[in-house]
Amino acid sequence: FGTQMINDRGHLSIGGVDTTDLAEEFGTPLYVYDTALIKNKIDEFKHAFRRHDGLNWQIAYASKAFSTIAMIQLIEEQDLLLDVVSGGELYTALKAGMAPKRIHFHGNNKSDAELAMALDAKIGAVIVDNFFELERLESMCAARKQTVAVLLRVTPGIEAHTHEFIMTGQDASKFGFNLGNGMADRAVKQALQAPHLDLKGIHSHIGSQIFERDGFAGAIRLMMEHAYKWTRDLAFHLEVLNVGGGFGIRYTQDDQPLAIEDYIDTIVNTAAEECTRYRLKMPAIWIEPGRSLVGEAGTTLYTAGASKDIIGVRKYLAVDGGMSDNIRPSLYQAQYWAICANKAADPADTHVSIAGKCCESGDILIKDAVLPKNCGAGDLIAVFSTGAYGYSMASHYNRLVNPAVVFVESGNATLAVRRETYEDLIRQDIPLKNLSCYK
Ligand code: LLP
Repeated sequence: FGTQMINDRGHLSIGGVDTTDLAEEFGTPLYVYDTALIKNKIDEFKHAFRRHDGLNWQIAYASKAFSTIAMIQLIEEQDLLLDVVSGGELYTALKAGMAPKRIHFHGNNKSDAELAMALDAKIGAVIVDNFFELERLESMCAARKQTVAVLLRVTPGIEAHTHEFIMTGQDASKFGFNLGNGMADRAVKQALQAPHLDLKGIHSHIGSQIFERDGFAGAIRLMMEHAYKWTRDLAFHLEVLNVGGGFGIRYTQDDQPLAIEDYIDTIVNTAAEECTRYRLKMPAIWIEPGRSLVGEAGTTLYTAGASKDIIGVRKYLAVDGGMSDNIRPSLYQAQYWAICANKAADPADTHVSIAGKCCESGDILIKDAVLPKNCGAGDLIAVFSTGAYGYSMASHYNRLVNPAVVFVESGNATLAVRRETYEDLIRQDIPLKNLSCYK
C-alpha cells in the first residue's frame, strides 16, 4: 500500500523512512502514518465526485477512526469537513483549529453539555438521532434564540454484509429513526415544526467495512422514496442526502474493496435515478469516510520477544503490544497482514501466531501469520492497515501506555502524538490517604 517498500537494506520503509530507524528513534509499539497516502485517498474521493458535473457534494472525515490534533489539521488543510461524535472529539477538533462551520455532530446520546458545547461553537450541523434529542435540541436553541442546521439520521432497514458489531442500518439498530415503521415520518414532521431547527436533509450509515454496492444503493432508494413522500405530504424539500461512511479497505491480500470511483458513481447515479423517477431536484451528496481515509495509511511496528512452540499444534511469537493498541482482532475477529520489517526481503514461509502481551487468551493479533523462519526475539514486526480504529480504540488494559504516533512523508518522520509515560498512567489517581470516605 502507499509508499511502503523494501529498501536496499532489506527493510520495510514507509514514506521513505526505514522502519528500523523509526523503531530506534521512537520506540515500539509505534503507530506510523503515511500522510501522502491519506492525501492520495482524499484526492481519489474528490476526483470521483468532480467527475459528476454540477453535483453539489461534501466529504466529512469521520474522526472516530483516528482523531488527534495533527490529524484534524491535515483534514482542515485538505479542505474536508469533519464529523465528531462526542464532546472529546469536538474539543479536539476545535483545539486543532477546525472551522466550527465545517464540523458535524453525530451520536445517539449526546448530553446537554455536549449539545451546549456544539451550539456555543456554532458548528455546521447536528445529525439528530432520536426524539429525545430532537426535543432537547429545539428547546435549548429556543432558550438561546439560536437556529441550528440539522439532518435526521434514518435507519433504512438494510443489512450491510459486514460484522454484526459494525452493522448499523438494520431495523433493530440502536441508531436513528426507522424508515419502515413511520418513525422517520414523525421525526421529519416534528423537525419541520421546530422553529429553531433548520432541517436540511437526512443521513444514513448502514455499516462499516463494506465491499458491496447494493447496500448503499438500496439505502438511497429507500431514502429517496421517503423524500418524495415528504415533499408531497409535508412540502419538505430535501437539500442534503448524507450516506455516511462504510467504504471497505484492504486488511489482507484476500480483501477486494470496491474502487472509490465505483462507490461514488453508485451513490450519485442511484440518487440521480431516483430524482428522475420522483421528479425531485438532485440533493447535495455528503459522505463521511473514516476507515477508508486513514486505515491503509497506518502501520503498527512492534518488537518481537518471547515465543512458544507447541509442537504439531501452533507456534506463537509475542510482541510488545496487543489488544491495548489494536482491539479489532479480539473484538471483531478482524484479520490483518504482517511482515518481519527488518527481514522484509527474506522468504516468508513459516506459520506463526502473533500474540499480544495482554493477560487475555484472546489477545492474538494475527492467527497464523506467515513470517520468515528466523524471525524471532528482537525482530521488528509490522502489522499493516492499522490506521483506523486502532489508536482511537486503544486502552490502558494491564496499565500499558498508549504508543506514540509518527507521521512520515518524503523521507522525514515527525512525532504526532507522544508515547505515554508511567507518570501519565497515574496522573488522575488519588492516593488512599486523600480519600476522605476511607477510614
Ligand atoms: N458516519 C457514521 C455515522 C458512523 O457511525 C461511522 C462509523 C462513519 C461515518 C465512518 O465509517 P467508516 O468509513 O470508518 O466505515 N470500530 C469499528 C468501526 C465502527 C464504525 C462506527 N461508525 C471497527 O473497528 O471496525
